[in-house]
Amino acid sequence: MGSRLIGYGSYLPERIMTNQDFERIMDTSDEWIVQRTGMRERHFARDDETVTDMATVAATRALENAGLTIDDIDLVIVATTTPELDFPSVGVQVLGRLGASSNLPAFDVRGACTGYIYALHCARAFFTAGIHRRIMIIGAEKMTRFIDWSDRSTAVLFGDGAGALIFEHSTSSYSGIIDTVVMADGREFDILHGTPDHHIVMTGPETYRRAVQHMPAAAQYIMEHAGIPAENVDWIIPHQANLRIIQSGAERLGFPLEKILITVDKHANTSGASGVLALAYAFDNDIIKRGQLILYPAFGSGLTWGAALIRV
Ligand code: UT7
Repeated sequence: MGSRLIGYGSYLPERIMTNQDFERIMDTSDEWIVQRTGMRERHFARDDETVTDMATVAATRALENAGLTIDDIDLVIVATTTPELDFPSVGVQVLGRLGASSNLPAFDVRGACTGYIYALHCARAFFTAGIHRRIMIIGAEKMTRFIDWSDRSTAVLFGDGAGALIFEHSTSSYSGIIDTVVMADGREFDILHGTPDHHIVMTGPETYRRAVQHMPAAAQYIMEHAGIPAENVDWIIPHQANLRIIQSGAERLGFPLEKILITVDKHANTSGASGVLALAYAFDNDIIKRGQLILYPAFGSGLTWGAALIRV
């Protein structure tokens, strides 16, 4: 029992915040941001624009892309760490916005920047067990709600956006979500977490060290677990946290940079939306072709980390 990808969609808020815009409001420079992170711009949601708004647009576009309506789906899983409301879930709110009438279930997963891998992991389990036949995964974040404007080391790193993928049950186990692995170490809470008043607390260098260790390890592990040699992987889409982390991971894995998809320059770190947005970007720009094999490593607050192998 496997799956196949049948639709995708994404949404990026209209407002673009450049490094030069940051130079005007805090003690930073385009040079520092580009050199340390590879980021050049990011999208910022309007004050009145919510995670649910962005998730709904991405979901609508994915349904259009698949030629389906929401009532053709039988489960929605949303990866988000920045919902406006504690309840109901963003997933159920999206069902309401889309006018779903078929009583399909929806829920959110909170895996921080690894959230979309946790969502893919759940979807794979439901397909394998034969419980659901068409699953929509949404990654949606309004990271700007958590920006601490007095902390220049984190304020410049994040962006907003949403992406959605629709998978359908398939008898092939070589398409769609082929394999997933997710991990967590709650003892590492201190180096990266949110606060009750909605701020990000991060010890950058410590987080960096864990990221360059865990993402390549998860990538290596999943290739071995799935029995897929590195040369069969067409693209790696790493979580877009920092260009230097991505380059270091590619080096550790011995992967050429031409096989690594990079959107961190345009989107910055969109946390649980990062990998889904990146894949949508790659399809929209004819970078990744249908049928190719994607390796998706991710890492984030928790700590959480993991990887997925997807044939798109
Ligand atoms: O998505 C979840 C996972 N997140 C990550 O994986 C992020 C991991 N960490 C990182 O990407 C990097 O640690 C950062 C990009 C956050 C920081 O880069 P760094 O090379 O580790 O810099 P640092 O924190 O060691 O700071 C170096 C210097 C400091 O100045 P001094 O003390 O050397 O004088 C900072 O005050 O850079 C300074 N600095 C800045 N300067 C200009 C920090 N932020 C800025 C800034 N503009 N925005």
